[in-house]
Amino acid sequence: MTIIQTPKELQELLKNETRSIGFVPTMGALHHGHLSLIEKSIKENELNIVSIFVNPTQFLEGEDLDKYPSKFDADEKICKLAGVDILFYPKKEDMYEEDEIKVIAPNIRGFVLEGAMRPGHFDGVLTIVMKLLNIVSPTKAYFGKKDAQQLSLISQMVKNFHMKVQIIPLETVREDDGLALSSRNIYLDKVQRKEALKISSSLKKATQLVMQKTLDVSLLQEEMLKVLKPLDVEYVAIVSRAFIPQEKVVIGDSIILVAAKLGTTRLIDNLWI
Ligand code: PAF
Repeated sequence: MTIIQTPKELQELLKNETRSIGFVPTMGALHHGHLSLIEKSIKENELNIVSIFVNPTQFLEGEDLDKYPSKFDADEKICKLAGVDILFYPKKEDMYEEDEIKVIAPNIRGFVLEGAMRPGHFDGVLTIVMKLLNIVSPTKAYFGKKDAQQLSLISQMVKNFHMKVQIIPLETVREDDGLALSSRNIYLDKVQRKEALKISSSLKKATQLVMQKTLDVSLLQEEMLKVLKPLDVEYVAIVSRAFIPQEKVVIGDSIILVAAKLGTTRLIDNLWI
């Protein structure tokens, strides 16, 4: 596995590449969720690239940028063992200049839910993903469904800017007890880890109710909030795949999303119906 630091070096290396390229962009602190993306990429492509870059522009003032888990040695081992060919590990100054053109998230999908709670977050995500996709020029890029709104916005950006890459969404990977894997789970203490299960339990409850034909969104939200009690819930929402709020669940076109805080740790999870 080759480790490359600068965009220039990576573009030079890939300049005459004719093989299919699979790409998994990450912020490091890799877990089994990332590994499932990497494994799928390796299955589907001839050359596989993973990036590790904790992107400062997607963190808001006061968020966990400075304490975001950094585990480069372990991440490097995981990538090597998985069979990744190139690990792209740029520094901030390799990726950003002082005053730059940005990609701005669209009004509807960009400013609800995560966009409302974290204004500017998606501008940062879209800008860095655009940069990374331009540097790597992958055939396919892999993203987890856990960050559903991010995935939706990246797919929209690729479509709106006529980019050639194919975006491949993959299922959320969970612990045996249901907790969605996240690099932020390591911030949870024992009690919070137990409490965090209420998030996936509330989604399970909603699925059960939908299976029993309860499709009314306010009713489902009410039932989910009962399960989530006493967590500090930021939102429980049911939207279409295009992130338009729904009054009734539409099987095949609904996503149920939850964001909640445990102490200072903010967790998100969702289920695609
Ligand atoms: O999902 C993430 O880890 C990040 O938002 C991404 C896509 C790597 C952009 O920094």
